[in-house]
Amino acid sequence: MIIAVDGPAASGKGTIARALARHYKLPHLDTGLLYRAVGQTVLDRGGDPASETDALAACDFDDALLDDLRLKSGTVGNAASVVSAHPAVRAALIERQQRFANQPGGAVLDGRDIGTVIAPHADAKLFVRATSAVRARRRHEELVRSGGTISYDRVLADIKARDLRDSTRSAAPLKQADDAVLLDTSFLSIESAINHAIELVEGQLVKRPA
Ligand code: DC
Repeated sequence: MIIAVDGPAASGKGTIARALARHYKLPHLDTGLLYRAVGQTVLDRGGDPASETDALAACDFDDALLDDLRLKSGTVGNAASVVSAHPAVRAALIERQQRFANQPGGAVLDGRDIGTVIAPHADAKLFVRATSAVRARRRHEELVRSGGTISYDRVLADIKARDLRDSTRSAAPLKQADDAVLLDTSFLSIESAINHAIELVEGQLVKRPA
């Protein structure tokens, strides 16, 4: 069984995808980490994320980087968003994601284009969203908790810029698949968002052709 979870930054899609993976005992892939690893590698090599040549060369990143805490930063998130707009970078990462999705037994993947491009045949698809103000508040609290001093307004501006870049790029833009169900987490606790997500997946599974 393949479950696709898409949505914008800080919508809660990662938390929901991890909870679904636990619930259904499936392996999980956070596909944003792959783009973050490319962004980090470009920065480490002194390259420019906007250069397709630099970004494509960075797709040979070392897998150990996927556990590096530096990937969580806002700077790397923005670099990831920039490198992910290059069609050649998306093409270089697609096979790895599709192999993960199509492994025996299935998987849960979260990202921006799982339901539309990586696994259009997924058994269940969620599109997770929340207002930009709520997402900025969550991200700001997270950054402050980990010792950051960035302002809420700056976080909100970053989130809006990232939404715009991710949803207006020509290659696999962030967009709800026609057959994905919408889950708005703006006013839900983490626990109720997870419970709703499980109900929505169950609802899609019973409608599957036998
Ligand atoms: O989910 P995230 O914030 O870790 O993703 C970082 C960036 O990577 C995001 O701004 C756009 C890009 N991304 C993508 O283009 N496609 C995906 N499937 C996942 C992430």
